[in-house]
Parts: sequence; C-alpha cells; structure tokens
Amino acid sequence: MTSNEIRQRFLTFFEKRGHAIIPSASLVPENDPSVLFNTAGMQPLVPYLLGEKHPQGTRLADVQKCVRTNDIDEVGDNTHLTFFEMLGNWSLGDYWKSESINWSYELLTSKEEGFGLDPQRLYVTCFEGDENAPRDEESATIWKEIFEKNGVTGERIYFRPANKNWWSAGPNGPCGPDTEMFYDLTGNITEGMSLEQYLKADDEQKVVEIWNNVFMEFLSKDGKVVGKLENKNVDTGAGFERMIAVVQGKSSVFETDIFSDLIKNTKNLTGSLKNQRIIADHIRTAVFMIVDGVSPSNTDRGYILRRLLRRAVLKTDKRKLDNQEISSLVNIISDKYEASYPEIKQNLTSVTQKIEEEVNKFTKTLEDGIKQFEKGIDPFVLFTTYGFPIEITKELAKERGTVIDEEKFNEEFKKHQELSRAGSEQKFKGGLAGTGEVETKYHTATHLLHQALRDVLGESVQQKGSNITTERLRFDFAFERKMTDEEKKKVEDIVNEKIQLNLPVKKEVMKKEEAEKTGALHFFGEKYPDEVNVYYIGDSLDSAYSKEFCGGPHVENTGVLGRFKIAKEEAVSAGVRRIKAVLE
Ligand code: ALA
Repeated sequence: MTSNEIRQRFLTFFEKRGHAIIPSASLVPENDPSVLFNTAGMQPLVPYLLGEKHPQGTRLADVQKCVRTNDIDEVGDNTHLTFFEMLGNWSLGDYWKSESINWSYELLTSKEEGFGLDPQRLYVTCFEGDENAPRDEESATIWKEIFEKNGVTGERIYFRPANKNWWSAGPNGPCGPDTEMFYDLTGNITEGMSLEQYLKADDEQKVVEIWNNVFMEFLSKDGKVVGKLENKNVDTGAGFERMIAVVQGKSSVFETDIFSDLIKNTKNLTGSLKNQRIIADHIRTAVFMIVDGVSPSNTDRGYILRRLLRRAVLKTDKRKLDNQEISSLVNIISDKYEASYPEIKQNLTSVTQKIEEEVNKFTKTLEDGIKQFEKGIDPFVLFTTYGFPIEITKELAKERGTVIDEEKFNEEFKKHQELSRAGSEQKFKGGLAGTGEVETKYHTATHLLHQALRDVLGESVQQKGSNITTERLRFDFAFERKMTDEEKKKVEDIVNEKIQLNLPVKKEVMKKEEAEKTGALHFFGEKYPDEVNVYYIGDSLDSAYSKEFCGGPHVENTGVLGRFKIAKEEAVSAGVRRIKAVLE
C-alpha cells in the first residue's frame, strides 16, 4: 500500500462511519498564541472540544500537518520527525470508548477496509488512575473483549501512569486518559509479553506507538484538573509516517515511500545515514512551513525555520547546499505531496527561492565564521554571532589539530540560556509577540490602528485581542458588523497619515487612577498594577493621537513604520471582528 492509499483508506473508513472529512488547518495556529505551530491534530479543534458547535457535525476526521521540534535531537532515528502528519478522528459529544476502540482495531487489522496489520503483534496501554481520574477499566475491558473475540491470546494490555496515558495539549484546556496502541516491528513475539518485556521492547523501539485514543472529558487549568467538559469527546491521533512504516513493513519512517526518493538524493550530500535523514527531514519541514507563510527570521517561527535550514546545511559533508541541490530536494517533496498539498507545486518557485536565499546567506556567514575561527576567536562568540554550534567549532578545531575550551563554552552557553529564558518569560507577561525590530513596529502600528478604528467606527470599538508576528499584526475588536471598503480605506489612510507625520512615541509611568483619567485605552475589567505605563503617540500626553496602557516595546518614531495596509477583515465570533494588517 502506498502512502497515498493509506491516507485515503483512513479517511474513507471514517467517512463511511459518519465522519465529515475536514481539511488540514495551517501549520500556523490561527487562534492559539500558546504554541508556535500546531503540534497535534486536536489543536485547531480546541474550541469545539470545549463545547462550541462544529459546522460539520459531531464526527470529524482529518489528516493534520504538525510540527514538533522538542525531539529534534532524536531525528535521524527510526521514528522521530520535526514535521509529520497526524491521522485523527473525533467525536464531539457523540460516540465514546467502545466505538472508538473497536473502530481503531478494525481499521488497523481489517484487510478489506483497513491496513491488514497482524493482531498478534498489537499491544495496548490504558490509564492506571490517579487523583484526577479513576483507572480506565472500561477501555481495558473493551480491549479484552476484542482480543478474545479475535483469538488474540497472551498478555497485551498494560496499565500505565499519567505521564504515559494521560493527554493534554498544554497546562490549560481539554484533557483526559488515553489508550495507546503499539505494534511489534520485529514480528517475533506472538504470544503476548509481560509488562517488563513490553517496556524493554518499547525502549528498544521494537514496539512503536501507532495510535492514541484520548477520552477527553476533563478540563485542566495550570496543569490541574478543575472539572468536566460540557461533552465527552474522543480525540485520536496516529502518526501518519509511522503508520506507513508499519503498514509497509519497514523498520524506519525514512524507509517508507514518503522518504525513499528524498533519501536517495541526500545520499549525494553526506555519507552519514543519520545526516541523510536529518537533511531530508529538515528540508521537508522547511517546505511545509514556508508554504504556510513562515519566513526565516530571528524570532519565533521564523527562527525555528532558520535553525532547521542551517542545521540541514551543517549536516552535509561539504557544509554547503547549492541551488541545484536545494531545487531537486524541493521538487521531490512537491511531487510526493502533489495529490494532498498541491499548494507546494503551485508555489514551487517562491518556496525554492526562499530556501536558496536563506541557505546562501548562511553559507556566506559560515565562510566568515570560519575566517574568524582561524583568527582564533572565542567559540562562544562564534556561536552567538555566526550561529556556529559547538560541534562545528570542535570539528574545525580537530581538522586543524587544535582543541577548544569546551567547559568555558558550556558555562557561557548556560548563562546565555538563562538570559533568554528570562527574556521569553518577560515576553509572555506582556501578552504580546516578540520584541524584535519588526514586531516592535507592528506593536506601534497596532496602537495607531486601534485609535483609527475608534475614529472611523466610533468609541464602541474595543480591543479584544492582539497577536503579532514578524509577518503581520492581528487585532480583534468588538464591533457588530463587517466593515465597508470605504471604512477600511479611511482607517488605512489615517494610520498612514500618522506614520508620515513622524510622531514621537513616548512612555510615562503613572499611578493607575491618574492614568485612567488621561483617557488612555486599556482593557476594562483587567487587573492592572498600581503603577502603569502609558504609551502615547504624539508630542505630549495631552495632545497625543493615541494613548494606551501598555508594556511596550514601541518604536521611537512613527516614521519608521513604512506603509500600513489592511490585508483582511473578518468575523471571529458574534460581535467580534478581526483585522490582519501588514507594514510594507
Ligand atoms: N491528541 C492526541 C495525540 O496527539 C491524540 O497524541
């Protein structure tokens, strides 16, 4: 079965069982500032898992694009990838454990409708229970009955603690116990395993997890279960690439038809199998990120993209990827995904160019870095200024018969990490995006937009949310109806006029009561400290065009913002509109 057939079988199976097939959401989450990328199929569905009605009903299935980079060091083994697709089916207050588990078993083992896997190689885990929820006997009993009915003998149901069989996307949101399915890749064990044998086989990647069915009936806050959800939901997730490996009888995701052409190609770039895999993985992830609108930069998503591309270059034997090599890798990826993601082919030239530009820039930096290295520059400076990981510096040193002071590097690195961690906590507090140059501009533009909206639409306009990336600003505000083209134009004109006036942006620290008297905009009902910052745009606080309670940062002068343009105006929910705008 090819990967495309497996994808189709999954979707058809659930379609036949009353599920609406929904398209993959973008890798970039639309309404969730807590993550940079979607990391699971359920993420774009959180509002519905929390009780909102889904327009397509209570049974859904899809194949969702995901990025996870926390296991990046694992990439190159048999199962880890930075980009992957997740097969998922959902019940939103509809079916529950019995249907969910029975269908999973049927899809995995049925030769006619499913993947025809050998049931004797299946093992499952269930939640053992803790203070949040009881032991999941219900799931275990369902499994027991299924195995008995199908003549699958031996020990193969294990109870595991919350760190294994409890699933949540983060500290806040829907969550619950899960049951996970594992498949024995070796094919040797047919009469079940003791818990110890299973744990060992899992550790040695002889059995791999292929599906996870989460029974989401709880809500957590700050990592603690605080109550039950409106509905009992089912959220399932199966790593597509792993499933392909299992169905195609391969011991590694890199041996499946998804990767085979790509790996043939990366063989020309390095003799190391692990590095071939890393390059294939990283370039594939980069292509999907770029198609979903991410550009290399020094912050957030753009930074992850940049690191992946740099890492790919560094894993080649020559530490170089030329345009020809890049283009053939991107072409292979585009061909492979033409049926499911035609947008790659449609944007082939621009995607390829973006990678080429970034890689070429890095190659230049590398060359400069190597020159600096030869002058004897500190390895830590090489890391912060030229992005040289210590491994590269070590290798360069080895090639030249010298050694570097790794201990000193590690000390400095630790200090650096603590500083950047403090930085990102700070950032979180402000509730806004990064503090890079571009984001800072967008931040000031957001204040101008807010005031301009009030000028044009009236004082009832109130900020409901804001989200800034290096690519755009997003501003949610209370307003009852769609804006007319004329109104949008007026708002743009006002903002651009204020930009052209080159107004100063200043800050005053004031007592909260005094600050409120100035008429500075703030969230009503939000708790502010006794002293607040008021940012204002204009010559004085009295005459300022815009005044807001805000943590900053802002540009010093509106003149640097460039041209402001509204890219989109749309509804988010009843009475709330959303504007996406760019600075050109
Ligand atoms: N949300 C579950 C997972 O990602 C299904 O494993």
